[in-house]
Amino acid sequence: DKGGYPHFMLKEIFEQPDCLTNCMRGRVNVDTDNVVLSAIIDYKKQLINAKRFIIVACGTSWHAGQIGKQMIENFCRIPVEVEYASEFRYRNPVITSDDVVIAISQSGETADTLAAVKLAKDNGAFIYGICNAIGSSIPRATNTGSYIHVGPEIGVASTKAFTGQVTVLTMLALALAKEKGTISSSDYLEIVKELHEIPEKMKKVLELNDRISELSRIFTYAHNFLYLGRGYSYPVALEGALKLKEISYIHAEGYPAAEMKHGPIALIDSDMPVVVIATHNAMYEKVLSNIQEVKARKGKVIAIVTEGDDNISRIADEVIELPTTIECLEPLLATIPLQLLAYHIAVCKGKNVDQPRNLAKSVTVE
Ligand code: M6R
Repeated sequence: DKGGYPHFMLKEIFEQPDCLTNCMRGRVNVDTDNVVLSAIIDYKKQLINAKRFIIVACGTSWHAGQIGKQMIENFCRIPVEVEYASEFRYRNPVITSDDVVIAISQSGETADTLAAVKLAKDNGAFIYGICNAIGSSIPRATNTGSYIHVGPEIGVASTKAFTGQVTVLTMLALALAKEKGTISSSDYLEIVKELHEIPEKMKKVLELNDRISELSRIFTYAHNFLYLGRGYSYPVALEGALKLKEISYIHAEGYPAAEMKHGPIALIDSDMPVVVIATHNAMYEKVLSNIQEVKARKGKVIAIVTEGDDNISRIADEVIELPTTIECLEPLLATIPLQLLAYHIAVCKGKNVDQPRNLAKSVTVE
C-alpha cells in the first residue's frame, strides 16, 4: 500500500521522521539524558575493549558506515575501517579477536555482507549487526546487534533504511563513548538532545518537496552530475550520487569537495550540474571556495546550505536551506533533499523509480 503516494520511494522518504522516532524509541531518553542500546548493556566488555572496528557493507549501507566511522573515531577514539563486503571477503584481511566487525544491511540477506560476517566470525572477531529485516540471515549470523526499526522498505532505492542506519550508528557511538569516558558530558548531552529533535527538523526539510520538484525539471537535460561534500557530508554526497544514478540513469559521481581540483574539475562546463553540501560547519569556507571554482567555469551549482546563509545564495544557481543542527547530525537532514532531487528528476524523465532496470531490492547472489 503506497498510502496515497504515487510511489513507494516517495512514501518512504516522507516516512523518515516517524521511522527515526521509532528507531530511537526507548533508546534515546531526553528526560534522563541517556542513550541506551541493549546490545551495549549485554556485551559491554567486548564492545568497549575493541581495539578496532571494521564496518562491512554494500551500497547505501556502506555510505552509512562511512558516517559511522567518523562518529566512532571522533567520540570513542577507536580506529574504524569501512570495507566493501565483496572486497573484504576475498582479500585475506587481517582479523583478530580484538576486532569488532559491524555488518550493516537493510535486507539482512546481502550475499557478500553475509559472507564477510562468516569470515570474520571464523577468525575470532565479535560481530555486531545493524539490520532492518527482523530474523533475516545476517542478524542470525551475528553475536549481537541493533535493528533499525524503520519498517519494510519496498522501493529499490534505499532511503529510510539509510537514515535509520545512521541513527543507530549515532546511538552506538554515543553510548560507547560514554562507557569509555571519551566524550565530555556537555558534548554528549548536546548531541543527545539534538538527536531527539531530528525528526521534527526532518519534517521541516520535507516541506521543501514542492520546491525541489520544481527545480528538478531544470536539470533533466543533464548527462552527468557531480556531488561534493566534506567531512560528514562526503558520504552524503556519495549517497546523493548513487540515488540519482540508480533511478534516473544519469551518471553521477560523489567526491570529497577538495578532491575536485585533482581531476573532476576538468569535467565542469555550463552543462554540468554540481550539487554541493555547504552547510555552516568547520569546512564552510573551504567548500565556499569550491563553489566559486565551479562558478568560474560556468558550472551550475545546487547548494545545500544552512538557513540564513547569504554568501552562497548570491553565487549558487539553486539554494536549498536546512535547519541548523550539530555537524555530526547534518547527514540526517542533508540526505533528504538529495533523495527528493533524485526522485523528482527520475519521475520527470518517466523512469520506474520503485523498480529501476537491472536492480534487485536485495542482492542475494554475488
Ligand atoms: O540490504 P542491504 O543494505 O545489504 O543492501 C545493500 C545494497 O545492495 C543497497 O544499499 C543498494 O545499494 C541500494 N539499491 C541503494 O539504494
